[in-house]
Amino acid sequence: MIEKTISTATARRLYDWLGRRHDVGERYERLAKERGLALLDLAPGQAVLNVGVGTGKEQQVLETAVSPHGLPVALDISRKMLQITRERAGHTRLCEADIHALPFASASFDRLFCTYVLDLIPLADLPGILGEFHRVLRRDVRMVLVSLTEGVDRGSKLVVGVWTAVYQISPVACGGCRPLHMEKMVVQAGFRDVTREVVVQMGVPSEVVTAVA
Ligand SMILES: C[S@@+](CC[C@H](N)C(=O)[O-])C[C@H]1O[C@@H](n2cnc3c(N)ncnc32)[C@H](O)[C@@H]1O
Repeated sequence: MIEKTISTATARRLYDWLGRRHDVGERYERLAKERGLALLDLAPGQAVLNVGVGTGKEQQVLETAVSPHGLPVALDISRKMLQITRERAGHTRLCEADIHALPFASASFDRLFCTYVLDLIPLADLPGILGEFHRVLRRDVRMVLVSLTEGVDRGSKLVVGVWTAVYQISPVACGGCRPLHMEKMVVQAGFRDVTREVVVQMGVPSEVVTAVA
């Protein structure tokens, strides 16, 4: 795993600037996120937190799945991303905050969804962030993480090789994201029943990790 990443301030500036252009990533991220949404196993009435919501492409699905009487919440550090999410998901509670310190009481949520965000966070910060995820979840409920990961076949290994080479030169050119393997860290953070699947789309491998708090 690559150690170097972009700072929180750079991430905010980058995603404020990217705005809707960020949707281009759907070409290689959509299938993994769809698998993640299926594994999230949402039900009406649940409180669900989407951490690093981006342009909110999945937020309407979350809203519909927990309605009626559910609580869909979307957090992001980028105000621009939250504005776009508002246009796409009118019933979501928006929260402008940093993933490092979630501004919610302990045991507030029944589900947590976080896609392509941990892969732009410094490795040293990940245990603390997973601790925050565990804290805001009720016990015996599910979390789904989707991140870029290492290649699993010839094509995806080649794509990751090129991605990594570009990342070494300019992390910003890759949206700050680099491949991760989260399973072990998730277990160390106190989650149980951890599973991992890899979904490849257009040669880009993504891991879909599920865990129970
Ligand atoms: C690669 S995008 C992924 C967006 C969305 N989850 C998706 O899958 O399309 C990363 C998102 O994380 C947000 N982000 C980056 N660093 C953050 C931080 N420290 N705290 C909260 N959000 C952050 C960015 O603003 C951006 O919206």
